Amino acid sequence: MQKKPIIAVLRGGSANEREISLRSGAAVVEGLQQAGYEVLDWPVDGLTDVIALVQQAPRPLLVFNVLHGRGGEDGQLQALLEVLKVPYTGSGLLASALSMDKVVTKRIWQAMGLPTADYYQVTQASLATFDVDAVRYPVMVKPAREGSSIGMFKVDSADNMQSALTQALTFDDHVLVESWIDGAEYTVAILGDQALPMIRLKTPNVFYDYEAKYQANTTEYLCPCGLSAEAEEAIQALALEAFHALGAKTWGRIDVMIDQQGQPWLLELNTVPGMTDHSLVPMAAKQAGLSFDQLVDRLVQLSI
Ligand SMILES: Nc1ncnc2c1ncn2[C@@H]1O[C@H](COP(=O)(O)OP(=O)(O)O)[C@@H](O)[C@H]1O
Ligand SMILES: [Mg+2]
Repeated sequence: MQKKPIIAVLRGGSANEREISLRSGAAVVEGLQQAGYEVLDWPVDGLTDVIALVQQAPRPLLVFNVLHGRGGEDGQLQALLEVLKVPYTGSGLLASALSMDKVVTKRIWQAMGLPTADYYQVTQASLATFDVDAVRYPVMVKPAREGSSIGMFKVDSADNMQSALTQALTFDDHVLVESWIDGAEYTVAILGDQALPMIRLKTPNVFYDYEAKYQANTTEYLCPCGLSAEAEEAIQALALEAFHALGAKTWGRIDVMIDQQGQPWLLELNTVPGMTDHSLVPMAAKQAGLSFDQLVDRLVQLSI
């Protein structure tokens, strides 16, 4: 009998999204086992753990990276694995680093003429001189390098701006003040060179916040997403363009909104999206006819 390839699943990490990553990783471990791989489960607290694990026997054929957020999704892990010469799933270090930072992401998209809402950048240093009265409200204030809607605030007037900025700046040293988009929200999962069926997200909350993502039972996920085939194909093509603009590969998830006038606005690219059995990429894959086990198998095949 042929020996099963060994895949190591990296999960946990030290970012705010640690708990989600532990759950995503547990699902991936199970999926890979079902798909016939020999799996090393690697729950880690940080990158130093990774160095030790990689040097132990048996050495995996591939690291399946399910670390969300800073440390795992932002190029640091990718750089480390390059140095250690261990192949890994997902985007390389440059695309990971670019995509982690929502300001840099938007600069690239804007430079390429891709639609993303206007924004200001505010740093710890510019906070004192930032003119809150020059802003057209409402806006979304968000840390540049967070995820899971952590540290984000909708701000309706100049009165609440300083406080929102100060709070967002506790999560990162630079934040975005982004024009508020009034419209419907969608996400586009990307697998290989293909966009999967889109998902429409509906929440009674002000926006798709942490509670709506992980706790509420009032969030609705529509897949098929309700757009005409033509409209969906146009957004899928836009998402693929946005994905490639950042140099991303293998997989990812583009968040996008469509305003009342039908204009799409790109929000962000996630290069290590959630992978619990309730997550969005598995949901889109299912609509495309791929089970969770088949999805993780595809990700391995695309990466080796
Ligand atoms: N400019 C905006 N206008 C309206 N809602 C927004 C805007 N930016 C983000 N949101 C809402 O906040 C959520 C999280 O924002 P996103 O940029 O995707 O960051 P995260 O990395 O936390 O997912 C989105 O899913 C959307 O519901
Ligand atoms: Mg998002």
